[in-house]
Amino acid sequence: MQRTVENAKDLSGSISPPGDKSISHRSAILNSIATGSAKVSNFCVGDDRNSILSCLRGLGARISQTSPKNTTGPDEIFRIDGCGSDGLTEPLNVLNAGNSGTTIRLISGLLAAQSFFSVITGDDSLRKRPMKRITKPLILMGSRISGRQNGSLAPLSISGGNLSGINYEMPVASAQLKSAILLAGMHAKSKTTILQPSKSRDHTERMMKAMGADVNYDEDSLEISISTSELKSMDVVVPCDISGASFWMIAGCCHPNAEIKISNVGINPSRTGVLEVLLEMGANITKENISSQSGEPTADIIVKTSNLKSVEIGGQIIPRVIDELPILALAACFAEGKSIIRDAKELRVKESDRISATVSGLKTLGADINETEDGMIINGTGKLTGGTVQSHHDHRIAMTMGIAGLVASGNTTILNSEAAEISYPSFWDELGHISVENRP
Ligand code: S3P
Repeated sequence: MQRTVENAKDLSGSISPPGDKSISHRSAILNSIATGSAKVSNFCVGDDRNSILSCLRGLGARISQTSPKNTTGPDEIFRIDGCGSDGLTEPLNVLNAGNSGTTIRLISGLLAAQSFFSVITGDDSLRKRPMKRITKPLILMGSRISGRQNGSLAPLSISGGNLSGINYEMPVASAQLKSAILLAGMHAKSKTTILQPSKSRDHTERMMKAMGADVNYDEDSLEISISTSELKSMDVVVPCDISGASFWMIAGCCHPNAEIKISNVGINPSRTGVLEVLLEMGANITKENISSQSGEPTADIIVKTSNLKSVEIGGQIIPRVIDELPILALAACFAEGKSIIRDAKELRVKESDRISATVSGLKTLGADINETEDGMIINGTGKLTGGTVQSHHDHRIAMTMGIAGLVASGNTTILNSEAAEISYPSFWDELGHISVENRP
């Protein structure tokens, strides 16, 4: 499928992005192995949600939808009846994580602790993504894991159980890796300690602690430890995804006539790198109704047309802004001066090589942007012309190019635009809704 996006005369209105994907995944996994029963609402939508739910159900998790049929979004409620810490069962078939890195890496941590045999795989993109980072520590803990290229690539076969804790220095700042070790660690007979190179999203340790796990972490420390733990079920109201919200924030900043309200966005400090970068660039962004739900801070975000200036993004902030770097590259095209993104090599092993996909797409649309080994350099020109671009079958690239289309002077056609369905199925409808030019 392809979409053509026209330049919008005005951007205005109110948007509620889908439920946060990372928090939704954790709420489903942790409640599935807890004792008791829980309700989860505003669960994420899109294909990645089907991946996590089908893997958990394949393991015997009891997850049912209690809201009226066909309800999705904020009104949808899942009931999860926990199986307890050793209640999962051997899957009858290969588990399929689809396109979802969070699903394969977190579920592998869980499988490492199970005494049964399982195989987990994913789609063409996921089968190219690095798995050694998780298989190495999980094997050190005592599980038996094989995979293509000596355990580096899925499919992975896993037989686990009887784990011991480890002291582990993580080679990459990855929340998926950290979470896989914590999920195995809570089932190990001795304590596991992890040292992170820099902070990444902390939803796993936050939720584990709230559910009664013996986990020690501190917002100011890079060290986390976990001992053998049982979890108690916990109701979760999932906040809206700041990664989904970032597309509208940057649309609002770059467009000359914009005012957009984005409601009920998760503003956990381990995720707000995008807000910090935009504020440093001089963005006209404010937060209202600051609150909290299920242990996660939330706010409404108001964004208006902004005079952006260039920025350098690198170092410790990278893991807290990793998913928003492609859309921030678009913001840099509309900022005065030269922006640099560095230390972001991890972008090359996401759903696509996001350095190359972002640079080639924005260049086609008229941007002055170049690749470096670990990032990009963007000279802000304040304009894009439009053109035809690829999504590279990557949801965040499809949506970045869609937003570029709203602010480019000519038309922008995005090939394989259906990639947005991985995390944001209503993205194209909402884009039409906030864009005055496209309203009926
Ligand atoms: C995620 C962690 C990040 C992020 C991904 C979601 C998570 O990946 O890019 O979209 O939910 O833990 P890494 O852990 O590979 O950095």
